[in-house]
Amino acid sequence: MDGSTLRTKLPDQGATETWGGELAAVLNPGLVIGLKGPLGAGKTTLVRALLRGLGVTGHIKSPTYALLEIYEVSRLYLYHFDFYRINGVYELDDAGFGEYFNAHSLCFVEWPERALGWLPPVDLWLELEPVGGGRHLTVSAGTVEGVACLERLQKV
Ligand SMILES: Nc1ncnc2c1ncn2[C@@H]1O[C@H](COP(=O)(O)OP(=O)(O)O)[C@@H](O)[C@H]1O
Ligand SMILES: [Mg+2]
Repeated sequence: MDGSTLRTKLPDQGATETWGGELAAVLNPGLVIGLKGPLGAGKTTLVRALLRGLGVTGHIKSPTYALLEIYEVSRLYLYHFDFYRINGVYELDDAGFGEYFNAHSLCFVEWPERALGWLPPVDLWLELEPVGGGRHLTVSAGTVEGVACLERLQKV
């Protein structure tokens, strides 16, 4: 741990869910969180755990087809994007997605690498890698706000 990168092993889905709940506790409005990793790596599973940790109840759909699912908890807007299926960032502009990245929202983005250049700075990168039956997770900060989050996470 060098202050801006953290690595951990998530041996099963339950570990991913527990870890997501811990990260949720140190997030604040205005953050953009990018999730990387191949199909089936557990990106949606992790966002679901984060959303639960932030207080979302009820069914949480994967935004694979809709590109975006929106939640509101105590006047905080939570946006869960999946850019796997986009053909170009013009689609994101056409859909008006840009305005969702603001100081009052928290944005989770699967496949952020498909919208680099369009996305505002990613504060936290979560990269999942399937290893054996489990996952390795690398968390890195892309901004000072991201570094602050990682520091809070170390203190939990
Ligand atoms: N830490 C883990 N170890 C093993 N399997 C996991 C872990 N986390 C999630 N899974 C499983 O891997 C799959 C991940 O699917 P999903 O979250 O939709 O992936 P993605 O969004 O990256 O395509 C699910 O079947 C889930 O049960
Ligand atoms: Mg997914």
